[in-house]
Amino acid sequence: MTKLTFGALVGLAMTAAASTAISSKAMAQDAAAGKTSFNKCLACHAIGEGAKNKVGPELNGLNGRKSGTAPDYSYSDANKNSGITWDEATFKEYIKDPKAKIPGTKMAFAGIKNETEINNLWTFISQFDKDGKIKQ
Ligand code: HEC
Repeated sequence: MTKLTFGALVGLAMTAAASTAISSKAMAQDAAAGKTSFNKCLACHAIGEGAKNKVGPELNGLNGRKSGTAPDYSYSDANKNSGITWDEATFKEYIKDPKAKIPGTKMAFAGIKNETEINNLWTFISQFDKDGKIKQ
């Protein structure tokens, strides 16, 4: 009985270790896929070290950032006054259909419908802190 329990514990520990390794590998793959998807945003948005505002605001440190607060960017009133704090849930809802989430936004982008692509995009974007460094 004791042996069995010990065996079960070792088994559990190994499963946990394996799944941690798998999930960090999966994270890296998701982020890479998200980077590719971010090509759709690149015409208007920069992210990473030294990112500047373009047609749209730079997107560093988006996780936890209040809408309409990228320094020196001229937002529409709709975006500025939306009252949104960007996080996983608000971003995912927004990017599906930006004009539905923020009526009157000047972001001219139809949206992304594919859930996997949205998840990957969030994994990529949420890696960056406000200085554009990848969070460890
Ligand atoms: C054609 C240009 C264009 C494209 C393409 C585009 N955006 Fe935007 N985006 C904008 C503009 C312009 C704004 C500012 C909207 C406003 O002020 O109403 C904006 C705003 C945003 C905001 C709100 C930022 C804040 O500080 O409140 C997020 C988040 C965002 N875009 C994400 C994305 C992502 C992710 C993609 C790609 C999947 C994307 N956008 C594609 C132009 C674009």
